Amino acid sequence: TSNEMWGGRFASGPDAIMEEINASIDYDKRLYEEDIAGSKAHAAMLADRGILSAGDRDAIIGGLETIRVEIAEGRFAFSRQREDIHMNIEARLAELIGPAAGRLHTARSRNDQVALDFRLHVKSALEGFEAGLTAFIEALLDKAEAHADTVMPGFTHLQVAQPVTYGHHALAYVEMAGRDLSRCRDALSRMDECPLGAAALAGTGFPIDRHQTAEALGFREPTRNSLDTVSDRDFALEFLSFAAICATHLSRLAEEIVIWSTPQFGFVKLSDAFSTGSSIMPQKKNPDAAELVRAKPGRINGALISLLTVMKGLPLSYSKDMQEDKEQVFDAIDSLNLALAAATGMVRDMTIVTDRMKAAAGHGFSTATDLADWLVREAGLPFREAHHVTGRAVARAEEKGVGLADLTLDEMKALHPAITDGVYSVLTVEASVASRTSFGGTAPDNVRASAKAWREKLAKT
Ligand code: ARG
Repeated sequence: TSNEMWGGRFASGPDAIMEEINASIDYDKRLYEEDIAGSKAHAAMLADRGILSAGDRDAIIGGLETIRVEIAEGRFAFSRQREDIHMNIEARLAELIGPAAGRLHTARSRNDQVALDFRLHVKSALEGFEAGLTAFIEALLDKAEAHADTVMPGFTHLQVAQPVTYGHHALAYVEMAGRDLSRCRDALSRMDECPLGAAALAGTGFPIDRHQTAEALGFREPTRNSLDTVSDRDFALEFLSFAAICATHLSRLAEEIVIWSTPQFGFVKLSDAFSTGSSIMPQKKNPDAAELVRAKPGRINGALISLLTVMKGLPLSYSKDMQEDKEQVFDAIDSLNLALAAATGMVRDMTIVTDRMKAAAGHGFSTATDLADWLVREAGLPFREAHHVTGRAVARAEEKGVGLADLTLDEMKALHPAITDGVYSVLTVEASVASRTSFGGTAPDNVRASAKAWREKLAKT
């Protein structure tokens, strides 16, 4: 049998493979709420503009509400013959209310309909991420404030570099998440234009009111060009770009948690709630959640590259290629949601092992730069010479198997005669971090001020 939507032009129905490659209902049923909201707004507008009778409008809106409940309660029979969510709902509407259902699609096409549904879905996902990122930032701020004075090693090349505070480290992730939040909001603001009414590609001759439907559906304004509207998936690409960057940040944090929770580091203890055991080794506590957060960019980056590749080179306006936009965006939404929730939970629950951090902070001659800076400040040496003298001090300490602060004053003086007793005060890890008061530096007072500024910023938005 030929198609119930466009059978007029067709003598026979589709090949089984045609049906299989064409059907998107298995995944786009996820858009049912958006599809029904869009149809209700469209029907209301058509009636206000005298294009649809009030009776038909009421029948349509009532029928759509029945369908919404059927789907929400799992009582709706989705059909692959009916291809996608739009036609599944419209066909069911016809079963429920008869011929009036056929008037709903006046001045509309599936092309603007799907652009609307998908955009609404991405928009609400991003609104969810605004809230999720805020919670993540708050969990990090709690840790930063509690550990403004907790000294740990800062690394470059994963080699001990200079002491920092754990509070400063946590705030580094606050900065990243803060940029993610701002990217999320930028994207939301750009996608705040309603596609409905672009119709197939050229607009419509019916006297519709696109401003009315835009407002009813929570958009700032309607889109301006009908051709662009049905061709545009920038909003999905921007979401995926945001998601890829955000997931990258989360995966870096996750990697640090994996490393830091090893017995060798022992900087953090994960809660039982975010760890798993081993079926054979009774002693094991594995950071599986952190590992999965670390892995999520695999899927999310894949989704971004996939959609960029689908869209590149597509002629205007709509092509069926664009149906391949949804599955991976849905997967990216779910993946990022889980990664963000798991990262927030892990940060909130994990114990910072301050003595392990502090002990490690002193390893690896981490205050060597402080010694060199002292020679510049107190003995007037050029930094390059101070660097050289300090290098010899490190070599001497390494030879003796001790830290820099354990060299005797005589040994120090042998390296440079201008060195006095005063040098020892800069060689502790606490003195080192306290001295880093430059704007954005790791000094505990900086950490407290920066955390406070973030709290105020979050309270304002
Ligand atoms: N299921 C389709 C999609 O996701 C809806 C739009 C179909 N439009 C069309 N002209 N065939 O893209």
